[in-house]
Amino acid sequence: MTSGRTDDVGARIERAAEWLRGAARVVATTGAGVSKESGIPTFRDAPSALWDNYRPEDLATRSGFRRDPARVWRWYAERRAMIAEAHPHEGHVALARMEARFEDFLLLTQNIDDLHRLAGSTKLIELHGNIFRYKCFDRDHPATPSEETPDVPPRCACGSYLRPDVVWFGEPLDAGHLRRAYAALDACDVLLVVGTSGLVYPAAGFPEIARAAGARVVEINPEPTPVTPLADVFVRAGAREALPALLQRVEAGRT
Ligand code: OAD
Repeated sequence: MTSGRTDDVGARIERAAEWLRGAARVVATTGAGVSKESGIPTFRDAPSALWDNYRPEDLATRSGFRRDPARVWRWYAERRAMIAEAHPHEGHVALARMEARFEDFLLLTQNIDDLHRLAGSTKLIELHGNIFRYKCFDRDHPATPSEETPDVPPRCACGSYLRPDVVWFGEPLDAGHLRRAYAALDACDVLLVVGTSGLVYPAAGFPEIARAAGARVVEINPEPTPVTPLADVFVRAGAREALPALLQRVEAGRT
């Protein structure tokens, strides 16, 4: 890390902090990059990309589940066990603490790993669901798999297989979640976009919506993304470093 880079990141964080100090309504949107420094691999980063040895359409689609429910169940069980070992880091905590700093705050995450909630976030929408919840494949009944069952996957009381309560490719997002998300984006003063490649819709469209509503867009990511040209400031850094630094600048300026 050169001091030039450090200065640049510091100046950009200060600019973002200035906007946040004047903001009443803030939305943050996060992706897999936020959890990377908790040890959870992202979807598209080489070499540990989650899908490397699998085809997403075999594991994260309804047709893949129909073809081989046991395989999909086991893959998610492995992921769940890996995620269960992970802990939120200072970046997750900084986002949770931001809730109290603004009149209105909403965190829209694409992550299914529960780390934002564990860090203390409550004004949170999990757009892609949560890997620690289950529902049944045929009727979406919420369910908890019985510990004793030998079935892989276990079954719902209605007879259908259980599946993780996450959004698969080709599935719609919860309409109520989207309504709340769009209302917040339409009204926000600042949108923070952290750790997402900006490739998967509808979350990939959030920066344009916020911009059209007159908000400042702040992106935090170690790499440029399709969001970068839309961002008013691009903080080229990891979430674990940048988010606490940003919160600290917001708080320092207010005292
Ligand atoms: P991706 O894996 O597509 O992108 C991760 C992003 O995090 C990249 O832009 C990285 O540069 C960035 N990144 C890496 N390290 C970081 C760090 N330390 N701090 C901040 N950012 C970092 O993950 P998502 O954008 O979340 O959907 O992917 C979106 C959706 O695609 C996922 O929710 C999932 C996937 O298919 C479903 O499962 C429906």
